[in-house]
Amino acid sequence: MEKVCSVLDVPDGKMKGFTVGSKYILIANVDGNFYALDAVCPHRGGYLPVGKLEKKILTCPVHGAQYDVTTGKLLKDVSEEVKEITGSGASDLDIYKILIMENLIYIRD
Ligand code: FES
Repeated sequence: MEKVCSVLDVPDGKMKGFTVGSKYILIANVDGNFYALDAVCPHRGGYLPVGKLEKKILTCPVHGAQYDVTTGKLLKDVSEEVKEITGSGASDLDIYKILIMENLIYIRD
């Protein structure tokens, strides 16, 4: 189990990126519920914490793929044009199980 941050670090409706060991972790707060995901877009490595979070929908800042932060599922892939240029589409994000103890958020291996 690895500590990521305090619940106070990520206000409701926001997301933030953290480095935990060699991992880049994104913590999102949707209506007071916390979710931990890979902070790096599986498409071409966009840093997702600088993207946009609307409710539970996260938009990658690079080519606009959209993910559900509560499940990690890809909701909207990149455009056909981007697929052609970059050689592939996006895929689901890895999601981590979390544990909250004394206001601290931990991810489980
Ligand atoms: S790097 Fe995220 S959509 Fe391309």
